[in-house]
Amino acid sequence: MLLLGIETSCDETAAAVVKDGREVLSNVLYSQEQIHQKYGGVVPELACRQHTAVISDVVCAALDKARVELRDLSGIAVTQGPGLMGALLVGVSFGKALAYRHKLRLIGVNHLEGHIAAVHLENRTVELPAVALVVSGGHTNIYFVPAHGPLELAGQTIDDAAGEAFDKGAKMLGLAYPGGPAIDRISKTGDPTRINFPRPYLRNDSLDMSFSGLKTSLRYYLERSGFPHTGRGQISNLSPVSIPDVAAAFQQAIVDVLVEKTVLAADRYGARSVCVTGGVAANINLRQRLAEVCREGGRSLYIPNPSYCTDNGAMIAAAGYFRFHRERESPLLTLSPQTAPPMGGSWFTGI
Ligand code: KG4
Ligand code: ZN
Repeated sequence: MLLLGIETSCDETAAAVVKDGREVLSNVLYSQEQIHQKYGGVVPELACRQHTAVISDVVCAALDKARVELRDLSGIAVTQGPGLMGALLVGVSFGKALAYRHKLRLIGVNHLEGHIAAVHLENRTVELPAVALVVSGGHTNIYFVPAHGPLELAGQTIDDAAGEAFDKGAKMLGLAYPGGPAIDRISKTGDPTRINFPRPYLRNDSLDMSFSGLKTSLRYYLERSGFPHTGRGQISNLSPVSIPDVAAAFQQAIVDVLVEKTVLAADRYGARSVCVTGGVAANINLRQRLAEVCREGGRSLYIPNPSYCTDNGAMIAAAGYFRFHRERESPLLTLSPQTAPPMGGSWFTGI
């Protein structure tokens, strides 16, 4: 089964052709990073305009690279939500028009389900039950993935997402957008033990998390240290603050919370494996720490290649494949973007 996956929920215009939910024939991405960089975050109106300008080229490039024609496709999977409403509308409308014109089946996919399905692109089976941490710019959720039945939301951030904390923290440090990769890079030369930022919610048995206090701690730390800023997103050379040390300590605090809550969830649900996906799952420190704790706990760890962790079309096609089998298709004319479309069931068992 050949599916075209279309993703436009935020600032990446992405399309991919995937065979049988696993074999990626093409994965094309147009990143708007440079457009939003000067604003230090995604500007929704600009994101929509850019999606509109490039979606046709991105989809054509995905088909060309895969060497398939529209008539070869079994259907189209498109991100239905959550995401920026205007941005989602571009992908959904484009998918609908293509499906209508070429008489293809169309299915709406939950973006978070797409992130989890990315695990499938590189692994045929996943030991169940599992827990899945979806950690991105908009979400930080822990799901219980049972052997049978629907995914269950086990815990989530009660305020900022971890990726948002990375982005906002990086902005305070004068680092480039997106902040996660920038902090990841600069932390390599820093000492995380020189500053002790708080680890919120680590001392109780809740699976929920909170990252906004950490962001405030960083602001206070920088103010207390007389952190001189040139006002142009640049750090003054006179600054007594070591940016790599602060970035490393800030990253460490986020990673500690994510790792601790994931292990707590895995223990509580008796998980045989752990899946970690979403943009923040590209973080090197997080990947290393999770590998250690999973090894110690005797659990398998599944983290997609970094290019499948951040938003992409292949993950949407993968999730669409399982939905096609379960639901056949979404009604073409009534499919519209939604804040929280339903999550899929336990498709890890395979088909
Ligand atoms: O999943 P994603 O591409 O888009 C959303 O669905 O939000 O995630 C984007 C988020 C951004 O906050 C970005 O800073 C973060 O993922 N991110 C990282 C890394 N790469 C991307 N955070 C930490 N370390 C990274 N290497
Ligand atoms: Zn995402």
